[in-house]
Amino acid sequence: MAKIPPGVGPRFPQVVLLFGATGDLARRKLLPGLHHLSSTGFMPGCRIIGVSLDEIDIETFRALARQALEEFSTRKLTEDDWAAFAQRLDYVPLSSGAGALRAAVERAERDLGADSRRLHYLSVPPSAALAAVRLLGEAGLVERSRIVMEKPFGTDLASAVSLNAQLHQVFAEDQIFRIDHFLGKEPAQNILAFRFANGLFEPIWNRNFIDHVQIDVPETLGLGKRAGFYEQTGAYRDMVVTHLFQILAFMAMEPPTALAPAPISEEKNKVFRSMLPLQPADVVRGQYTGYRAEPGVDPESETETFIAVKCFIDNWRWAGVPFYLRTGKRLAEGKRIISIAFREPPKSMFPAGSGVGAQGPDHLTFDLADASKMSLSFYGKRPGPGMRLDKLSLQFAMHDTGLAGEVLEAYERLILDAMRGDHTLFTTAEGIERLWQVSTALLEAPPPVRLYEPGSWGPKSIHQLIAPQAWRLPFERAWRDPNSLGS
Ligand code: BG6
Repeated sequence: MAKIPPGVGPRFPQVVLLFGATGDLARRKLLPGLHHLSSTGFMPGCRIIGVSLDEIDIETFRALARQALEEFSTRKLTEDDWAAFAQRLDYVPLSSGAGALRAAVERAERDLGADSRRLHYLSVPPSAALAAVRLLGEAGLVERSRIVMEKPFGTDLASAVSLNAQLHQVFAEDQIFRIDHFLGKEPAQNILAFRFANGLFEPIWNRNFIDHVQIDVPETLGLGKRAGFYEQTGAYRDMVVTHLFQILAFMAMEPPTALAPAPISEEKNKVFRSMLPLQPADVVRGQYTGYRAEPGVDPESETETFIAVKCFIDNWRWAGVPFYLRTGKRLAEGKRIISIAFREPPKSMFPAGSGVGAQGPDHLTFDLADASKMSLSFYGKRPGPGMRLDKLSLQFAMHDTGLAGEVLEAYERLILDAMRGDHTLFTTAEGIERLWQVSTALLEAPPPVRLYEPGSWGPKSIHQLIAPQAWRLPFERAWRDPNSLGS
């Protein structure tokens, strides 16, 4: 087993109270993630108490957890591994109330020792968050604890403000970790390294050189079993006001004075403060054909499964530069990219038909795939007589460096950070409230949903939104496979 570097994990054993323990996120990410962290020794000790509305017993919960690990864990599960993990699992149905919850935590703490800490993970929809917070207060489980709140945090400005206020009646701000797992992805943090550790790009990272920015996260995934959650949420609340805006902040913020929670949050919040309110006319909402017939979906649902928005950051660096954000379910490809289009030079010196500018502007593209990839595309001369230009590219893939190795998944990294009390990669109340504030006009008067075919790139009007520019995806040139060079 690889040696865990000091300071990566928490110093004390952890009792994790996992609300929403039978839900989609718990099965896909949280249980496999907790299993990985506990089996590789990142924590000095740990017990996981599942909590949910399901009236099941411990053995049923263990069976469900095992199935989740087998289905979703990226690492192979051995019998020994499983036996050790199963011993660490407990379950309390929500209906058993505060007393039973407290008793389960005390049982776990007797095993782990008096210096153990509590991590409450609320993997529940916004409508259920407050009830869980109150229950924790009632059960007397606030001491020695930290609480992770899943996104979306509230559903609009009023609900986020009220959730923050009521949360503060039970937990102090330094105990609260508002999670956005995109910030835990290696490539997202690499944006900061790339921008601020180099002298090459930062001088041109502004409105004088950049024409527009695209943050594009199409998914091929459908709803799975999440219709209940998704019907209340939709693509804007699920993805844009959360993940896409957080990525936008990393991309657009000023250099923080230090890589520490307060300076980073301050710079991100300045970006959010400078955002202009979203205009419904700058938004395309879509719904894939067949969505309304899915189990659990209202046959007249107006929930969007796709959204594209144009927004602006009205500050000295970015005024007038459009940021185009797009995401949706059941689209043609699953990708996560940020693409920066540079302004074009005067092209008059090149002869007619040379091809200059014919394939769009120069682009710098971050591919937020699990290991970072980047590419810089530019025009160069096609070998041969005359002056014919082609779009060429420099490409970098972390995989090719041999450094990618065994990285922690986003949720794993963030769970460890929360256990250690490190807020650097978490969002703040102020930031979230501001994002809901800029969303108000859109939430109050959303444009009608337009249908799109599953497997497409969304409704046709997405092209008008970005014209005269074009969406980078689908890529015109496939990613180069270095292993095929010269073959
Ligand atoms: C989640 C959303 O937060 O992020 C899902 O609720 C979405 O709808 C998911 O599919 C995408 O995350 P990732 O890490 O798989 O790109």
